[in-house]
Amino acid sequence: MKSQLFAAAIIFGFVISFAAAGVQSVGVHGSINCDNEVAAYIRLELWDKDRLDPDDLMANATTGKTGNFYIKGKESEVTTIDPELRIFHKCGVETAKCYRQTVIEIPDEYITDGAEPKNFYDAGNINLRTLPNTESKYCD
Ligand SMILES: *[C@@H]1O[C@H](CO)[C@@H](O)[C@H](O)[C@H]1NC(C)=O
Repeated sequence: MKSQLFAAAIIFGFVISFAAAGVQSVGVHGSINCDNEVAAYIRLELWDKDRLDPDDLMANATTGKTGNFYIKGKESEVTTIDPELRIFHKCGVETAKCYRQTVIEIPDEYITDGAEPKNFYDAGNINLRTLPNTESKYCD
């Protein structure tokens, strides 16, 4: 009985360490506007939203002068990562002191096992004006 428990503990430990060693990656591209006005040079962050630990920042980027963007990142996690793109902007609140945050969830099927994303998520043409947002921690 004791040896069976011991064996079970070893197998369990092996499975956990094996899973934890797995790096996962994700990439997303698209373009961003505010009611058809290009959202140039705005801040983007790729996060892994964790249920138990604090969220992990995977990558930073900014949109280009035409509002286009491309961002990718990787994270080592025991369970499947829960990636999301956070967009920081003042669309609709141009005179506000603090930036708004709009979140785009990245579907699970775009998560790659490995450090290099194989299948980028195309977020399309994002109009910030049509999406919900919350106040961010970034202020002028
Ligand atoms: C993101 O940018 C901040 C500074 O704005 C920096 O401290 C941090 O290391 C960057 N993180 C990644 C993952 O690129």
